Amino acid sequence: MSVEELNGSELGTKEYWEKSYQREIKNYKSHGDVGEIWFDEDSQIRVVNWIMKRDDIADDAKFIDLGCGNGMILVELANEGYTNLLGVDYSPKAVELASNIAKDQKLDIKYQVLDLLDANECQKLGIFNVVHDKGTYDAISLNPDNPKEKRELYLDCVKGMMDENSFFVITSCNWTDEELILSFNEKFDKFCTIPTPTFKFGGKVGSVITSMVFKKKTLPS
Ligand SMILES: C[S@@+](CC[C@H](N)C(=O)[O-])C[C@H]1O[C@@H](n2cnc3c(N)ncnc32)[C@H](O)[C@@H]1O
Repeated sequence: MSVEELNGSELGTKEYWEKSYQREIKNYKSHGDVGEIWFDEDSQIRVVNWIMKRDDIADDAKFIDLGCGNGMILVELANEGYTNLLGVDYSPKAVELASNIAKDQKLDIKYQVLDLLDANECQKLGIFNVVHDKGTYDAISLNPDNPKEKRELYLDCVKGMMDENSFFVITSCNWTDEELILSFNEKFDKFCTIPTPTFKFGGKVGSVITSMVFKKKTLPS
């Protein structure tokens, strides 16, 4: 069984994100607006609260934010005392914006341009305790050119950044819990769901945003 692919859109292209962050840099420089926080600030806070409650995620745990955009979740984590933070994005303009924001707030957050579909480059980064994604798997799923292959490449990169203790924390608005579990099934096991607000329509309960945590699948011994 597999999920039905989404229709491709400009949100699945690098050109779209470059243009969008170019505009956000302009806004940031002219009136200090840090730009869009995808899926609203609450979804970010829910993830940070989940991380903060865990005794097995130390202050110096290694974090990577995949497709970091303006890097606001890393800013939030830095403000909460986490010290080993890296954001990567294939848009140089996103990295420029995020770096400027961190510098202006005097926060020690590292940023790097990286295409998460480039297995060789991803491998060079090593292993992280927490691999975070908000909206990036969604964007990759909208790639107009063979999104299924792109999703698999991306998930291989994620897996390569994890060991058996790492957490993969993902927030999506394009995929449901069940669809994420189904798509990740070969590489990851569900660890937990971070509860998000639900709505009820026609007697059916659903949520607009999904936040889930996965662990790398281990081979049966
Ligand atoms: C919906 S935005 C989310 C940005 C940020 N995570 C947030 O929550 O505000 C998707 C991000 O994924 C990045 N992205 C998409 N495909 C990528 C890829 N192949 N490699 C690296 N970054 C990618 C885009 O540049 C964009 O910053």
